[in-house]
Amino acid sequence: MRTNLNDYITLGRSGLRVSPLCLGTMTFGTEWGWGAEEKTAREVFDRYVDAGGNFIDTADLYTEGHSEDLLGKFISDRGVRDRVVLATKFTFNGDAGNPNAGGNGRKNIYRALEGSLRRLQTDYIDLYWLHAWDTVTPVEEVISTLNDLVRGGKIRHYGFSDTPAWYVARAQTLAEKEGKERLVALQLEYSLVERNIEREHIPAAQELGLGITPWSPLAGGFLSGKYRRQENTGVGEGRLEKTKDNPAFNQFSDRNWGILDELVTVANEISKSPAQVALNWVATQPGITSTIIGATKMAQLEDNLKSIEFEIPAELRKRLDDLSALEPAHPYKIFNPEMQGMMSGGTRVNPWLAARVYAPPSQQPLSVRAQAPKK
Ligand SMILES: NC(=O)c1ccc[n+]([C@@H]2O[C@H](COP(=O)([O-])OP(=O)(O)OC[C@H]3O[C@@H](n4cnc5c(N)ncnc54)[C@H](OP(=O)(O)O)[C@@H]3O)[C@@H](O)[C@H]2O)c1
Repeated sequence: MRTNLNDYITLGRSGLRVSPLCLGTMTFGTEWGWGAEEKTAREVFDRYVDAGGNFIDTADLYTEGHSEDLLGKFISDRGVRDRVVLATKFTFNGDAGNPNAGGNGRKNIYRALEGSLRRLQTDYIDLYWLHAWDTVTPVEEVISTLNDLVRGGKIRHYGFSDTPAWYVARAQTLAEKEGKERLVALQLEYSLVERNIEREHIPAAQELGLGITPWSPLAGGFLSGKYRRQENTGVGEGRLEKTKDNPAFNQFSDRNWGILDELVTVANEISKSPAQVALNWVATQPGITSTIIGATKMAQLEDNLKSIEFEIPAELRKRLDDLSALEPAHPYKIFNPEMQGMMSGGTRVNPWLAARVYAPPSQQPLSVRAQAPKK
């Protein structure tokens, strides 16, 4: 268990050392109606860096570019460009009517990168993310462009966010076979209420040497416990009140309220806040390297920074695991030890391998998780 921000860990199969909690800055700027003003954003940034944090996540279009502008200023004012691992993203389009001002084609990647470098006041990006699959660009064009940017010194590493696992596997395999720079990480939504990446992405990342950096580990604040169930409507103060009419962001389902109830009970039993327990659960799941936290207030950051300082007792963790487990689905439900026995002729299978491959990570016994070899 990593207990401090300066207890650095390498990201995927790379030499890049990052803090176990990454500072997300989608909330730097108020353009989207639920972020933090410059003064608070600067305090959050300073506190994270002072606590030993070195890993900062943004994107070219977060708060219409203001997030990158603010970060560029904060990093320059503190003189910490060399010390931080600065990550940003391309894909989304900020120029209506111009089809090549977005997407993952070569033309947009170069355009987007120039804008990010300017706003961030730097001449290189440490980790450049493809923000989301655009469904059209051939994977060869993406990895060849990113490979050239690494070799040209404009970026140090690259990874994919919000892409199908098959696309990731194809990219990594091609990069390896063609001697190109490989992906080092994946960025995906992961929390007690959103565990779908356990089916494909986590096993793929473990096989392909990719670190996972989960986003929305508190489901946008839902798992902090500050929202109240009232005929299935959230009542609370925060982002989710403002975004609840958008089905993509609405967290107020019966299933989620049930998981939150158990989370609050577990948190009370160990005298931690629900946010701390929810973040701890994500940060200590198999395959997770650095969890991206977000805060619009200093008190939230202070709360969240304490999330890696303890362990959730195994029996309480099991309660959270069981209640939030994924529904069985094809074909994953047939990859079970019974089926494996039918393949091995009843002979014993290495327990770590069997658990890793044939059970979703959250259903692996804790004893097996503890034995998992470090990448
Ligand atoms: N790749 C992608 O597609 C993608 C998508 C989304 C995010 N991200 C990245 O991931 C980062 C984190 O995402 P997220 O902001 O959605 O994470 P999150 O942890 O799920 O939600 C953070 C929000 O929850 C509330 N909160 C946080 N800590 C709290 C606490 N202790 N008590 C009460 N409320 C608390 C705050 O919002 P309120 O004050 O408004 O309640 C805060 O902004 C982003 O900044 C961004 O860098 C990436």
